[in-house]
Amino acid sequence: MMNTEAVTPETLDWENLGFSYIKTDYRYVSYWKDGEWDEGELTRDNQVHISEGSTALHYGQSCFEGMKAYRAADGSINLFRPYENAERMKRSCERLLMPAFPVERFVEAVRETVEANEQWVPPYGTGSTLYIRPYMIGVGDNIGVRAAPEYLFAIFVTPVGPYFKGGLTPSDFVVTQYDRAAPYGTGASKVGGNYGGSLLPGTEAKKRNFSDAIYLDPATHTKIEEVGSANFFGITHDDKFITPKSPSILPSITKYSLMYLAEHRLGLTVEEGDVYVDQLDRFKEAGACGTAAVISPIGGIQYGDDFHVFYSETEVGPVTKRLYNELIGIQYGDIAAPENWVVKV
Ligand code: PLP
Ligand code: COI
Repeated sequence: MMNTEAVTPETLDWENLGFSYIKTDYRYVSYWKDGEWDEGELTRDNQVHISEGSTALHYGQSCFEGMKAYRAADGSINLFRPYENAERMKRSCERLLMPAFPVERFVEAVRETVEANEQWVPPYGTGSTLYIRPYMIGVGDNIGVRAAPEYLFAIFVTPVGPYFKGGLTPSDFVVTQYDRAAPYGTGASKVGGNYGGSLLPGTEAKKRNFSDAIYLDPATHTKIEEVGSANFFGITHDDKFITPKSPSILPSITKYSLMYLAEHRLGLTVEEGDVYVDQLDRFKEAGACGTAAVISPIGGIQYGDDFHVFYSETEVGPVTKRLYNELIGIQYGDIAAPENWVVKV
């Protein structure tokens, strides 16, 4: 195990970071009690001290967000669509009967936390970013299955490299028979329980040398829903950008951004619709997209005994590459962003 306490920004090998926890200097915490959030503060303590009766520990009353800070060429720091994360967290909170953290305060707290950890934002050109993890948990003394009496909202940050090994090198995925969410369950919310349930299928996939598990729609098991912790997209032979539409997938901010860029910058037709797992021939390229995954090209998909290869198992396809360049160009500030997509720290 790496001793994360011993790592400093001076000793970090920025170009070779994985996706793992490194303790940074400050985190933001705010407590909710008696109907209101306190004013919140930055702290150096990375341990959380909570009641043994906390609903987060027993009943899964916990949700989180995932976003990144990007170092621009001029040294400034960009956030990518942070209001979208704030709004999605509000929806996750509503689903779990938690008090939302106000949207403006969420963005301000993210900004403050990144600023306080400024030296941990990887340099421009290293391919690494500062991953930002806001989360909320139900805390306080409790035993019955009910909403918690108190809440903790916190944000910590950690520098990261690629989520799936290889970054823009394609990797292979395997369809699992497990479900990550029920049709009218919590799949569209970013809640802890969805991820607890994904550990077994994800680990089984990795044991078989796949990058992660692909989940089918829970009602019929015929359509692709999610690629591990990322959304799916495919490019058809006639240049349509297609991505699944379902009430049980997480509405990915990266996915909606790519839909906009595919249409307005690349001139593709964009469609949210069914992606039948036995009709993958319609796609010439496919990828997984998300904050952590960025765009990770899918080389092939194993479905039962069938292995379907898209563009190539070793090289990224040209449309995926153009989408990737457009997306990260905007995030790092090299390419003009649609209005309000980039917020400076
Ligand atoms: N799907 C799941 C299950 C996820 O955990 C994530 C990560 O946040 C995504 C998709 C991608 O969402 P976003 O692009 O908003 O990060
Ligand atoms: C993200 O893309 O931010 C995720 O949440 C993925 C994973 C680390 C849970």
